[in-house]
Amino acid sequence: MAIQDFLVASILLSCFIATSYGVSFSSLPETLVVTASPQPGQVLKAGEDTITVSWLLNTSSPAGIDFAYKTVKVKLCYAPISQRDRAWRKTVDDLEKDKTCQHMIVAKAYSSSNNNFTWIVQKDVPTATYFIRAYVYDSNNKEVAYGQTTNSNKATNLFDVQAITGRHVSLDIASVCFSAFSVVSLLGFFFLEKRRSKASQAK
Ligand SMILES: *[C@@H]1O[C@H](CO)[C@@H](O)[C@H](O)[C@H]1NC(C)=O
Ligand SMILES: *[C@@H]1O[C@H](CO)[C@@H](O)[C@H](O)[C@H]1NC(C)=O
Repeated sequence: MAIQDFLVASILLSCFIATSYGVSFSSLPETLVVTASPQPGQVLKAGEDTITVSWLLNTSSPAGIDFAYKTVKVKLCYAPISQRDRAWRKTVDDLEKDKTCQHMIVAKAYSSSNNNFTWIVQKDVPTATYFIRAYVYDSNNKEVAYGQTTNSNKATNLFDVQAITGRHVSLDIASVCFSAFSVVSLLGFFFLEKRRSKASQAK
């Protein structure tokens, strides 16, 4: 093998290796301050309630830390209590494999302050406990920083979403029962009314 071929092969191989691993979450600095409207423990209804999320660069960050910041993606993330026994929501340090934050809220161009967005909790969001995290990307679309509404243990400021299905099933059951009750009582009235009119005719 000629030396040039060897070089080309090594370069290709290193590119392949470089792209097959994601950025590790633990390597990212927390430079964004993210706040959101839900109160700790609040229960939001999917398809109805809204979340207003705000984010800005932490003002105590070193000047110029954000020179490579290009975009921000704000996501809804599963709290540890809703990841237990669910491999499909597992937290992995390699962000390409991480499944903590599966619901995109918004993607926006980076700006150091005055960012906010109001989102209707989408109907496909399952019942679970959540927090919100914002990832910052550079021009190569690689994660370079983050911010989140909870602490590093993901234990504070958590809120719940109640999915649409559970609620509607119980509503449907309630309305079916109510309709059945109405039909039965209508028949009952009809029957009583008939008996009454027969009785008065007999007099
Ligand atoms: C901003 O960063 C400093 C230093 O990392 C930290 O102590 C502080 O809590 C952060 N501020 C907010 C509002 O998160
Ligand atoms: C929300 O964002 C708008 C621009 O999109 C900005 O004008 C406004 O000041 C922001 N509000 C807050 C409370 O940050």
